[in-house]
Amino acid sequence: MNTLVEYTAENHAPHIIVVGGTSGIGLALAHHHLQLGWQVSVVGSNEVKIESINSQYPAISTYTCDLTDSVQTQSLLDKLSAMSFQRLIYSAGSYTNERVHHLNQVDSDKMLAINLQAFEQVFRWASAQLKQQSQSLDIINNLKPSLICIASIAGTMDYPYASLYAKSKRAMIATASAYRAALAPYDIQVNCIASGYIDTQALRDLNDGDASHKPFIMSTQTAVAKIMQAIENDVELAIFPRSMRYITQTLNHLPKPLLNWILRSKLDKPS
Ligand SMILES: NC(=O)c1ccc[n+]([C@@H]2O[C@H](COP(=O)([O-])OP(=O)(O)OC[C@H]3O[C@@H](n4cnc5c(N)ncnc54)[C@H](OP(=O)(O)O)[C@@H]3O)[C@@H](O)[C@H]2O)c1
Repeated sequence: MNTLVEYTAENHAPHIIVVGGTSGIGLALAHHHLQLGWQVSVVGSNEVKIESINSQYPAISTYTCDLTDSVQTQSLLDKLSAMSFQRLIYSAGSYTNERVHHLNQVDSDKMLAINLQAFEQVFRWASAQLKQQSQSLDIINNLKPSLICIASIAGTMDYPYASLYAKSKRAMIATASAYRAALAPYDIQVNCIASGYIDTQALRDLNDGDASHKPFIMSTQTAVAKIMQAIENDVELAIFPRSMRYITQTLNHLPKPLLNWILRSKLDKPS
């Protein structure tokens, strides 16, 4: 696989679909692939974001879909089945300040639907599509087909007091690992990204416009570089930044009741 190839008319451009590609890390990854010469499609639910992408990046194809609605999601997937693709990134996600504000029913439904249920629906469809393509030898430029999902470092810790966000991302990590094993015989790669804080607008919005106090926060550009490197090196579970990885690895070695106590006292603060 070579993500640095420049694609021309003779050298047919591969196609990437970024689900949750209308803002934040998903849009940054979509833009990066566009710069590399890929054909890019993004999916999101916000009409204002879609219109802004249509005017700013007319080369990107946009699809409006509310992923919390499984019927709407299925009809989008049926539509997308008409075209082949070589990479899909699932970057859609929902998060709140769950520890500061009590998780209400609306946020709970949304988080479960986007972080877990729609993810499973999309990965199930995408893996079937890629398998079918691999059998029809629809391989472009020797590029290994790939499925990528954006989980979170929060999902790498195993403790009973975890939030719904952490639990849904943990389930995403486990699901991606199962898909990786299942798709290996088809030569389809699956990578899961478990990053720490990324300085996106969504994270800033949750923190009164400034997320710079978040530990080891990284820029979106740094996150894109790390994610592309993980895809290039076919890393099963990419955990970064390194500082956060060391901390979570250390915490995972503590006895569960101690870990639970530490996280409970650390997380239940209004900051
Ligand atoms: N930022 C961080 O610190 C951080 C750290 C670790 C992991 N992550 C993960 O990275 C991913 C992206 O986060 P981000 O910070 O870039 O946030 P973001 O800008 O809010 O991106 C979320 C994406 O999901 C889409 N989405 C949300 N609800 C949707 C719905 N109902 N239907 C269709 N699409 C929907 C959004 O599109 P619309 O608004 O158009 O619907 C948007 O494109 C998330 O999965 C998040 O959990 C983020």
